[in-house]
Amino acid sequence: MARLGSIHPSPCGTTLVVLAIMVLALPAVAQERREPSPPGVTDSVIQRGSVVFRGSARCDVCHGADARGTEDGPDLTDDKWLRGEGTFDQILERVLYGTPRRDAKTGKPMPMRGWEPVSGDDARAVAAYVWSLSRQRAP
Ligand code: HEC
Repeated sequence: MARLGSIHPSPCGTTLVVLAIMVLALPAVAQERREPSPPGVTDSVIQRGSVVFRGSARCDVCHGADARGTEDGPDLTDDKWLRGEGTFDQILERVLYGTPRRDAKTGKPMPMRGWEPVSGDDARAVAAYVWSLSRQRAP
């Protein structure tokens, strides 16, 4: 009768298991390096904001459908900001209050709450979307 093979795991098998664990752990490490989301900024809120951006608020009229800017509004996807550091609160403030022509750095004004004024919830959602653009190059 043939003898059964050794039941001890081969060194090769052990190496594979260790490698698999390392590969599985990689995304977790990458995520930790991402800036934490501000309170209330979830994937679903960002998703809704992307709809509001091109929908009811019509931010795309000036900032472009891809938010990379037109001659009527600056690029919102890069990490350069006309004022501040592009924190969520600063972006939300810009959406809520706009920029009157006399304060505009580009010489062009921005209307408050979009081309068609949106509700407070939609303003937060669209600000969350803009916040995400310069962080993870999202949706
Ligand atoms: C009528 C055109 C217009 C519309 C509509 C518009 N914006 Fe703007 N936006 C501008 C202009 C022009 C500026 C730059 C103002 C300045 O020179 O200070 C600006 C600036 C901004 C900034 C600050 C950018 C920076 O670099 O500091 C953010 C954020 C922003 N807009 C988001 C939005 C969002 C979100 C919407 C939709 C709710 C929107 N804008 C709708 C014209 C527009």
